[in-house]
Amino acid sequence: MNFDRHRRLRSSVNMRNMVRETSLHKRDLIYPIFVVEKDDVKKEIPSMPGIYQLSLNIMDDEVHEAYKLGIRAVILFGIPNHKDACGTGAYDDEGIIQKATRKVKSLYPDMLVLADTCLCEYTDHGHCGVLDDHTHDVINDETLPLLVQTAVSQAKAGADIIAPSNMMDGFVKEIRKGLDDAGFVNIPIMSYGIKYASAFYGPFRDAAESAPSHGDRKTYQMDPANRLEAMLELESDLKEGCDMMIVKPALSYLDIIRDVRNNSNVPIVAYNVSGEYSMTKAASMNGWVDEERIVMEQMLSMKRAGADMIITYFAKDICKYLDEGD
Ligand code: PBG
Ligand code: ZN
Repeated sequence: MNFDRHRRLRSSVNMRNMVRETSLHKRDLIYPIFVVEKDDVKKEIPSMPGIYQLSLNIMDDEVHEAYKLGIRAVILFGIPNHKDACGTGAYDDEGIIQKATRKVKSLYPDMLVLADTCLCEYTDHGHCGVLDDHTHDVINDETLPLLVQTAVSQAKAGADIIAPSNMMDGFVKEIRKGLDDAGFVNIPIMSYGIKYASAFYGPFRDAAESAPSHGDRKTYQMDPANRLEAMLELESDLKEGCDMMIVKPALSYLDIIRDVRNNSNVPIVAYNVSGEYSMTKAASMNGWVDEERIVMEQMLSMKRAGADMIITYFAKDICKYLDEGD
C-alpha cells in the first residue's frame, strides 16, 4: 500500500499524548467573580447555573475554593447599590470593586486580580460611558477621563492588571498615561480592544445587572461581520501601549484569535463569555452533551486558535478535570 499512515501516531494514549500540539494548564485560567455591594447575598444567576452574585461579606468561600483548586487569577465585576448618569461608583475609592479587590488581595496576596474597567455596571442607563443629552449616544472623549479615574482607583486598591472593556477610542493611551502619572508604571493593561457587539453577553448582563436601558452597544462595540477591522483595533491598541489583548467572545471568533496571533507578539486572552457558558451548561444539564468533554474541547479550540489565556466561568470545573486526569 502506498499512502501516508497518519494513524501510526494515534495508536495509544501515550503515543497520542506525546504528539499533542496544544495543552491546557491551570495557569491559563482566569475566573470571573460577581461581587454585590449589598450584604448577605448569595444568588445564583438563573441563566448561568453554578455562577453566583456574592456579597463582599460572604465571598471568601468562593475565593478560597478557587485558590485551593489552583486558580491564580480572577477578574472582578462589581454590582453597586447606587447607579447614576456618570457611573461614579466605578471610580469611588470605597466602591464595591475597590473593596473586593482589597479583600481578595488580603486573603491571597499572590492571587492576580484583574479589574474590568468600564462604567456600564455603574451607570443608571447601563451604557459604558456618559451620554449625549440629544443623541443619547456615548460621548467618547468625555468618557475617557472617567475611565482613567476608574483604572487609577482600581490600581490603588491593589489590582494587578487593568482590563478596560469599554471600547472607547483611545482608552489604552489615556489609561496608560493616567496609570503612569499616578506612579503605576508597572501595572499592565489587558485590552478588550477586540470586542464585538454580541448576543453572547446576554447572561452576563443579568449577572452584572448592566443591560442598557435603551438602544444597544453597536456604536462602540464591533460589528460581528468584520474581520479586517479587528486588525485596526489591534494596531491602535499596540501603538497605544497595551500589554495583552483580549478577543471577545471567543468560540464564534476563533478566526480573529488566529489573526491576532499571526499579527502580534503580545499574549492573547480568549474571553469565553457568558452566553457560551450558558449554552454549554444548558445542553449538558439536559444530558445532551458530555459537559467535561465539551468544555475541554472548547478550551483546546481557543488555545489551538492562538490564545494563551482564557477567561472562563468553567475555570473551577476545569481545575477539577485536570486534577482527575493526573
Ligand atoms: C462590560 C463587560 C461585558 C462583559 C465583560 N465586561 C458586557 C457588555 O459589554 O455588555 C461580557 C462578559 C460575558 O458575557 O461573559 N462592558
Ligand atoms: Zn461596559
